[in-house]
Amino acid sequence: MSFYTNKIYPWILDNTDPKELAALRLSNLKDTKGEILEVGIGTGANLPFYPKEIKRITAVEPSESMHQRAQIKAYKNNITIDWYQGKGESLKFSDDSFDTVVSSGLLCSVDDVDKVLNEMYRVLKPGGKFYFLEHGISKNKKIRKLQIRFNRVNNVIACGCNLTRNIENHIRNSAFEIIEVFHVETFAGINKLYPPVHGTATKKSI
Ligand SMILES: C[S@@+](CC[C@H](N)C(=O)[O-])C[C@H]1O[C@@H](n2cnc3c(N)ncnc32)[C@H](O)[C@@H]1O
Repeated sequence: MSFYTNKIYPWILDNTDPKELAALRLSNLKDTKGEILEVGIGTGANLPFYPKEIKRITAVEPSESMHQRAQIKAYKNNITIDWYQGKGESLKFSDDSFDTVVSSGLLCSVDDVDKVLNEMYRVLKPGGKFYFLEHGISKNKKIRKLQIRFNRVNNVIACGCNLTRNIENHIRNSAFEIIEVFHVETFAGINKLYPPVHGTATKKSI
């Protein structure tokens, strides 16, 4: 891993989270419960927003330097992380292991969105909830053009992050059943390029 991916990018993530995202993180996580898996936990930006009763979560994250930053936030928020270094495309957990699966800012960056969704679905218990707070292709034509134009440069600066994925379609085409989904197109400045798509999906009980 380069100095940039190891040191600078985690610092960027910790210092450029749009202010508007805090409210979305809070509402995305407010009903999380039970055995929780967060895939791509990064520097742990979600940790301050879990309900106070949550004392332990399982996290999968490929980058050790991200994990080190996440540990600091976990300590401050009185949460223990059972950390697994790895990727969402291949989760080392049995089927139906978790009550809740969480992802935020992950599906833009993974190598294979559909594989990650399949894996998250597999490890979620029937009736469990998948809470996502992602970003993707804008519904606004002008922003969409900018996203296509800057996708390559963003991909380099943001370590593999894509601006042009249609995350809602990926989730709709997966085995998950979407309960609710929202698109936010009100972010200002450069954050317009990262319009959040967030919501809840479930694995139907048979
Ligand atoms: C933009 S960061 C978001 C971090 C955090 N979830 C947040 O909300 O700030 C994307 C994270 O996904 C991780 N990541 C990238 N590819 C991954 C994969 N295939 N499986 C799991 N995590 C991955 C990266 O290492 C990084 O920590």
